[in-house]
Amino acid sequence: MEHDITIKQVTTGKTKPDYNHLSFGKYFTDHMFVMDYNEEDGWFDARITPYEPLLMDPSSLMFHYGQSVFEGLKAYTSKKGGIQLFRPEKNFNRMNISSDRMNIPEVDPDFLVDALKKLLHIDRDWVPVEEGQSLYIRPFIIATEPALSVKPASQYKLMIILSPVGSYYAQSDQMSPVSIYVEDEYVRSVRGLVGFTKTAGNYAASLKVQKKAEELGYDQVLWLDAIEKKYIEEVGSMNIFFKINGEIITPALNGSILDGITRDSVIELLRHWGWNVHERRISIDEVKQAHVDGELEEVFGTGTAAVISPVGRLKWKDEELVINGNQTGPVSYDLYDTISGIQTGAKEDVLGWTVPLQEQET
Ligand code: COI
Repeated sequence: MEHDITIKQVTTGKTKPDYNHLSFGKYFTDHMFVMDYNEEDGWFDARITPYEPLLMDPSSLMFHYGQSVFEGLKAYTSKKGGIQLFRPEKNFNRMNISSDRMNIPEVDPDFLVDALKKLLHIDRDWVPVEEGQSLYIRPFIIATEPALSVKPASQYKLMIILSPVGSYYAQSDQMSPVSIYVEDEYVRSVRGLVGFTKTAGNYAASLKVQKKAEELGYDQVLWLDAIEKKYIEEVGSMNIFFKINGEIITPALNGSILDGITRDSVIELLRHWGWNVHERRISIDEVKQAHVDGELEEVFGTGTAAVISPVGRLKWKDEELVINGNQTGPVSYDLYDTISGIQTGAKEDVLGWTVPLQEQET
C-alpha cells in the first residue's frame, strides 16, 4: 500500500491546557491524521489536517450498528532526548485483528506507523515531559457509508487523534491502589463474540455495570466468564494479574478477553526477571481461597491507559478482599518503574520495545 500524505498545517495552534491537571483524554492537539476508504480506491486521501469536528451523514452505518474499531498507544518524551513510541506495530497489527472480526478492511501497519510519526512530528510540542504524563494516541476506524440496512459498510474513515494525558484513574495518583467490584450478573463477552477486539460496543455494554460499581464505591468492574460466571476475564480498561504464593497468574487469552500489549510486555518482563508466570483459567473462588489462606499477595491491572494499576480492594458478593493491606506491592512497583522507565528512556530497553521518532520525520 503506497500513499502520499497531504499535510495541511495550522498556522497558529491552540492554547495548551494546564499540564498539572490533564486527567485523561480531555484535550486534543492541533492536528489529526485522516484517511478514507471506498471499494473502488481502497484506502485513499491520506492527510494530516487541523483537528476539527467531522461533518457526517446521520445515516452513517457506524451510528446505527456500531461498526468500528479503535486502538490506544502512547508517545513519550525520552530522557535521552526526542520522542519515542512503545511497540506501535503491535497496536496496528491488533487493529487489523479487530477489523477482521468487524468486517472492516485492513490497513498496512507499517504505513500507519509512518503516518503516526509524521503526525507526532508536527504536534511534537504537545508531548508532555513530566513524570507520569504522555501523549495518548487514539487511532480508530468508523463505517461512514450512509445506509440503514444491516451490512458491512462500503465506506470508512480512519483517523488518529492525540491527547496529552496524566493518569487514567481520576481519584488517585498512578500508584495508589484502585478498588474493584466483581460483577456476578451481567457479562462482558463470551468466546465467539467480539471480546478480544477493541470495538466500541464492548465498552458501551460495560457502562451500566461501571455505574453500578461506582455507586457501590468501587472504581472499576472485574468481569467473569459468561457461562459459569466463575472464571476471571478482564477489567475492561485493563487486563488483570494475581500474585499468589510467589507465582504470577493471569487469565489465558481465551477469545473473549483483550490481548493487551501491556499484558504481553509484563509477562515477558516478569519471565525475563525469572518469575513463573501462568496464563491459565483462574476462578474467583481460587482468588478468595488464596486470600483466606493469606497467599493473595498482590493484584494489579495492566493497560496502555492504566499502565500498571495496583488493586487494593476486591468486592465479590458480600465480601471485600483487602489485598496487601490496601497498599501497593513490590512487584507492581517494580513493573511500573521498569515499564514506565523503558517507555521514557530512563531505563535500558532490554527487550527492544521502543521506537524513536527521528528529527527529520516530517
Ligand atoms: C487503552 O488502555 O488504551 C484503552 O484503550 C482502554 C480504554 C478504556 C481507555
